[in-house]
Amino acid sequence: MTKIRIAIQKSGRLNEDSLQILKNCGVSIDNGKDQLKASARNFPLEAFYLRNGDIPQYLRDGVVDIAIIGENVLIEKGEDIGIAEKLGFSKCKVSLAVPKSVKYKSVQDFEGKRIATSYPNTVKKYLKEKGVNADLHIINGSVEIAPNIGLADGICDIVSSGSTLFKNNLKEVEVMLTSEAVLAVSPKISEERKEILRKLQFRIKSVLQARQ
Ligand code: PRP
Ligand code: MG
Repeated sequence: MTKIRIAIQKSGRLNEDSLQILKNCGVSIDNGKDQLKASARNFPLEAFYLRNGDIPQYLRDGVVDIAIIGENVLIEKGEDIGIAEKLGFSKCKVSLAVPKSVKYKSVQDFEGKRIATSYPNTVKKYLKEKGVNADLHIINGSVEIAPNIGLADGICDIVSSGSTLFKNNLKEVEVMLTSEAVLAVSPKISEERKEILRKLQFRIKSVLQARQ
């Protein structure tokens, strides 16, 4: 039997809510803590637990058909990939921040400065639009530590509750974009699997409506 292949974040903030929405749709699967692949018991669906940043490429290649992923990751790495549905959870911002002690006036203050980030494309695009030239330091995590250890003057990262910024003595100075979890679709999805997607999407829409 043909199954639709869905990518889900292996660990992190999206994992639980992604499984929950599928569960609300009547699609039950294991959480991926012990295995990287699991089949739903009662729907033609197979889940792959993957790293966030790898998911756009899997969609592009058609190795998975759909994914639950943060819009911010698609903006950074998958602008060519379509969104079927916004899912309303895991809302966050992608923002620029500087040490609290800095007297910040405008984005022009980043001219010639060093910015640490895991979102180089997003920052580059934003600063280009503003006509600002900055030096990007690309790191994969714990970005907020960078100003404290002298690696950068500012950072660009995800802000959700704001507690990571607060704990690291940083303040948000520019919100570059807002994001939420979305259902993304591979450009290579087959007609047969599109039919399964339609069924799943119908259930997702009802769940989202009921949540309002
Ligand atoms: C993410 C993100 C921020 C933080 C924002 O990091 O990179 O650091 O969450 O959330 P908050 O505003 O609620 O504090 P995460 O903890 O996922 O780890 P990582 O940066 O090491 O990937
Ligand atoms: Mg972080």
